[in-house]
Amino acid sequence: MSQEKVQHSLLGKSLHWFFVLLFVYGIFKQIENKEQLNDLELLRSEMFFAVFFLLFIVFRFIYMKRRYKTALPLDTSKIQFIAAKIVHISMYFALAGIAISGLGIGLLFWMGYKDGLLIEFVIWVHELLFSTILWLISIHILAAIYHRTQNDYVWSSMVPFLKEKVK
Ligand code: HEM
Ligand code: HEM
Repeated sequence: MSQEKVQHSLLGKSLHWFFVLLFVYGIFKQIENKEQLNDLELLRSEMFFAVFFLLFIVFRFIYMKRRYKTALPLDTSKIQFIAAKIVHISMYFALAGIAISGLGIGLLFWMGYKDGLLIEFVIWVHELLFSTILWLISIHILAAIYHRTQNDYVWSSMVPFLKEKVK
């Protein structure tokens, strides 16, 4: 099998794993109900976090667009290349959408539209995007595990543990 052992750059790996931590942190400190946003300090810190999260995604997207080269083996089927690309790009859109809809909720709340159809709709979009990202991340992790079972070095190109032994 023709094998090109791509290693993602240190910056590429750092952005990937720092983002995983940021996302987990975002989930842990999530808002339980919108009434919590009456606390102005909390509203401000949520907005600040969402702006940072969004800027981070945009920076990472631009960096990966310029520098990213998948570690998928050259003999991978075209359909698998396309599927991987769709999942990666959809993850960026869903994550950016979570931050943008979160900012939308915060802005509406700050402007006094605390109840009503509009804010409920934006919350619905926010939660829908969150469910979508959970599906995408699950598919992504399952695909990474699948590649580990194939010993094709895709796993080792990004994951720092349980690496394949280089032949
Ligand atoms: C990028 C940053 C953010 C992340 C990762 C995030 C994450 C989440 C998660 C995981 C949920 C629960 C979804 C579910 O159970 O289906 C949620 C709900 C919610 N978030 Fe965010 N969020 C972010 C930004 C914001 C911002 C900036 C605001 C507003 C200032 C906000 C307001 C809300 C509200 C009102 C809910 C619904 C709570 C309810 O069930 O009533 N979020 N968010
Ligand atoms: C919040 C969770 C995660 C997100 C949002 C995420 C997102 C991404 C994205 C967008 C890429 C494409 C490269 C890039 O743009 O940086 C990627 C690559 C990769 N990720 Fe993740 N990832 C997550 C968690 C994980 C986990 C837990 C694993 C493994 C246990 C993993 C394994 C990989 C591997 C092996 C690659 C390289 C794929 C290739 O070279 O084609 N990821 N990830």
